[in-house]
Amino acid sequence: MFNRLLVLLCLNSCLSVGAQQSTIPSTEKLIDQLTLEEKERIVVGSEMEIPWSEAKMLGVGMTKDDVPGAAGTSLPNERLNIPKVVFADGPAGVRISPERAEEPGKTYYATAFPVATMLASSFNVELMEEVGHAFGHEAKEYGVDVLLAPALNIHRNPLGGRNFEYYSEDPLLSGKMAAAFSNGVQAEGVGVCIKHFVANNHETNRQTVDVIVSERALREIYLKGFEIAVKESNPWSAMSAFNKINGEYASESKELLRTILREEWGFDGFVMTDWFGGEDVPKQLIAGNDLLMPGTPAHKGRIVKAVESGEMTEADLNRNVKAILDTYQKTLEFKGYQNSNQPDLDKSKEVALKAAEEGIVLLKNEGSALPLKPASKVALFGVASYETIAGGTGSGDVNKAYSVSLLEGLKNNNVVVNQELTTAYQAFIKSEKDKRPPKEWSFGPDEILPEKEWIKEELDSIAQLTDVGVFTINRTSGEFYDREQGHDFYLSKTEQKLVNQLSEAYRAQEKKFIVVLNIGGVIETASWKEKADAIVLMWQAGQEGGNAFANMLSGKVNPSGKLPMTFPVYYMDHYSSKNFPGEELVDNPYPSPFNPVAAEVVYEEDIYVGYRYFESFDVAVSYPFGFGLSYTDFEVSAVKAKLDKQGNIAVYCNVKNTGSVAGKEVVQVYVSAPNGKLEKPEIELRAFAKSNLLAPGEEQNLSFTIDPATYASFDSEVSKWVLEPGQYDIAVGTSSKDIAGKSDVNVAKTIEVLTTTKSLVPQKEFYQLRKEESLK
Ligand code: BGC
Repeated sequence: MFNRLLVLLCLNSCLSVGAQQSTIPSTEKLIDQLTLEEKERIVVGSEMEIPWSEAKMLGVGMTKDDVPGAAGTSLPNERLNIPKVVFADGPAGVRISPERAEEPGKTYYATAFPVATMLASSFNVELMEEVGHAFGHEAKEYGVDVLLAPALNIHRNPLGGRNFEYYSEDPLLSGKMAAAFSNGVQAEGVGVCIKHFVANNHETNRQTVDVIVSERALREIYLKGFEIAVKESNPWSAMSAFNKINGEYASESKELLRTILREEWGFDGFVMTDWFGGEDVPKQLIAGNDLLMPGTPAHKGRIVKAVESGEMTEADLNRNVKAILDTYQKTLEFKGYQNSNQPDLDKSKEVALKAAEEGIVLLKNEGSALPLKPASKVALFGVASYETIAGGTGSGDVNKAYSVSLLEGLKNNNVVVNQELTTAYQAFIKSEKDKRPPKEWSFGPDEILPEKEWIKEELDSIAQLTDVGVFTINRTSGEFYDREQGHDFYLSKTEQKLVNQLSEAYRAQEKKFIVVLNIGGVIETASWKEKADAIVLMWQAGQEGGNAFANMLSGKVNPSGKLPMTFPVYYMDHYSSKNFPGEELVDNPYPSPFNPVAAEVVYEEDIYVGYRYFESFDVAVSYPFGFGLSYTDFEVSAVKAKLDKQGNIAVYCNVKNTGSVAGKEVVQVYVSAPNGKLEKPEIELRAFAKSNLLAPGEEQNLSFTIDPATYASFDSEVSKWVLEPGQYDIAVGTSSKDIAGKSDVNVAKTIEVLTTTKSLVPQKEFYQLRKEESLK
């Protein structure tokens, strides 16, 4: 079966070259010439040759098109010379099949970059644009026209299974990162697809769940990043989310896809469904969900019938066709680009390494445990020190050529690693792997191997032989599944025991104990952080992860990453934990990602997501948003803020490296708006910048402009973005808690910044968290 499928998949092999640009007429002409049946073929993807479940079960590519392993392809029209357009995932690299049966020995590997959360931890928009260029270049040379990234849903809760594919709990950071990335990709001539639009914040019942959320939280938190991305990077396409929003599927919501996305924000690309998303085809098309992906047999004739029966008009359909073809006209395929299938992977590798180096977050470094002293002997504990996880699973995964483990990275840096321990771990890993059958389904979750257990005497003797003990803790997650509390958010019993044992063994000999977090999402740190001298959050750092880690450990690179989300003390401290991932409305005796049932989730926390909640309600955290240490010290000073007549706030400050090694600092500007008719979060990130690499003693002046739209609040009663009168406190610092200087400006009277159309109103009243109530 597998072979037959592979043959099918490979019939239309990769040898495709671009179409003949000169012979493709303009969109207007095409629309005039297309028959109704042909128009239907424009708005439906090329289908899958084999059932979705089977294709994914077998780990084969889902299309038999030009680029094997790409997520989807459009249907060509030979009569009018309209070529196929190829869509490929995703947020950590171009996901295509690395091998093709008809070309044995030839490979098509794409680079595995750090996961999006780690890219966001760099807080470096210039770097993000460079990363975007590298993605775009690979996509271009592999014949991919539209990249199914960036994904920028908000980290509403730590257990969101795809959080690693998304940037942050903060909409400004998410939007700026997405825009910079998209600008980079699109400068290469490849389109991006901002996804999943919108409020797809967990995986459980993702195709059916009704997200009930206030207009204000939608506008300020969930839509905001998309709005920034649309306005600052003009993405070629958007992917509607699977879920419903206030009673209506995202892909069927005219208010979402026409009113907000197009009329208010000026989006002029096309919208596609998430794979098999939504139910009512004519409703989707009328709503402005132009393309149905990946296309199913049920779509055949459905659209023709809808027009003929009057369910929708041909003018509606023409609008979808125009949005799609206008964008396709920009593709490399339409322009006749001859892709080489030979991207410059060496260059991408450098970018992937740099991105990983800038995304590592140093959470703790007591007694300058790091960087390692020269010639330190290192003991590597933890399965992930040897089998380092490069990224998550599902469509956010990348078929990479290699992944550098921590062991390999350290060896590449000539760090001496205890060999006996390495041999013991390698044998342990092999025996554990041998016990397990190979993964059945390539999109299925990866199994984390159990940790090897040790007795005190063994650890004491390894501690004797080495200078530093490193314990790597790993986690994985991915599409279709949310994470769990036990042995996922919280450490397993074995992990806890090992942390305690190693801490005792190394500290007893006055040696350092370092914990490395090779994870894609937040875990619990408060209960054990005292046991470690240093904690390195290396995330899932892509194929160059081990090298980036070793460069940072050895001091070649000074860490400069910051947390794009809060690390809470307890899971339940997140307000959203009270209702995550929502309630199933019917019995569900056989829960499975393929058996979603009617469900509902009420976003009771409203606008109080992430640090907005922790700061406003004085809830203690383990590590705050924006936090991350460096091997040097910085001083932020001379904070000044000025308001101009148009309501723009100009913020100035100076950042100086007061330590002894070169480094970069992320300067963050938080605004506290006055409470008025609308209650406001304690602080909100309104601007940020990463400094240059500053030599010891070097300083840099930074300035920021915060325009009214960036710091306004949404008044749903009047559907307006407003600045209420009063004092706006401006706090500038190096994390949401480390504020170096403050200033303020006064808004004399209400400024109405922008009027919107009343949209996506929740169908029922729900409890809204109030500061006063919670503080009682
Ligand atoms: C995911 C999308 C992805 C698509 C194509 C869907 O299951 O939700 O993010 O782009 O598959 O692979």
